[in-house]
Amino acid sequence: MEQVFFLSLFCLICGALASSGTETFYSLSAKDITGKMIGFERYSGKIVLVVNVASECGYTDYNYIQLNQLQLRYGEESLAILAFPCNQFGAQEPAKDSEINSMIRYKYKPQFPLFSKVNVTGESQSEVYRFLINSTNGLEPKWNFCKYLLDRDGLVVQFFDQGKTFDKIYDSIDGLLYRKRREL
Ligand SMILES: *[C@@H]1O[C@H](CO)[C@@H](O)[C@H](O)[C@H]1NC(C)=O
Ligand SMILES: *[C@@H]1O[C@H](CO)[C@@H](O)[C@H](O)[C@H]1NC(C)=O
Repeated sequence: MEQVFFLSLFCLICGALASSGTETFYSLSAKDITGKMIGFERYSGKIVLVVNVASECGYTDYNYIQLNQLQLRYGEESLAILAFPCNQFGAQEPAKDSEINSMIRYKYKPQFPLFSKVNVTGESQSEVYRFLINSTNGLEPKWNFCKYLLDRDGLVVQFFDQGKTFDKIYDSIDGLLYRKRREL
């Protein structure tokens, strides 16, 4: 009797674990702006900032300059910035990947990778954004240059709206760096 009880309890727990899914940030992948597939397991152990970018926005200069400074400040060992061009906000990223890539490289020399253009919401939503939006209970970009911050275990810890949020981003990254890693 007791055995049956524990056996069914065990199965319930297994079932719950299975249905909660095994998808993590590190199980995702995305095409970079040159078409090469990038597996996100390579970001394991790093702080990650995911940002949707656009080339023709009033915030474009400010953000690329600030993102470069942020990347240089923390270095590639600690911080990975992943930039996803997206044309969904004001149609301000109209060009093709190859054109975006050469224009942005020429203008800003980005110190971080650009990925292939995505939709962050809607029918052709990128699986990276599906994961990010789901992890924050529905917080989604409403404009260009919104950001998700992930800790060194790949958990989404903060969402930043468009606008001048870099002071807050520095504070949050400092907080994550000096916090002990979660016991896994
Ligand atoms: C984004 O969605 C629009 C409208 O549905 C579509 O035309 C476009 O091809 C999509 N872009 C990407 C990169 O999936
Ligand atoms: C997140 O995904 C789970 C499992 O697919 C789903 O039940 C839930 O409604 C999603 N949450 C949001 C905010 O999309």
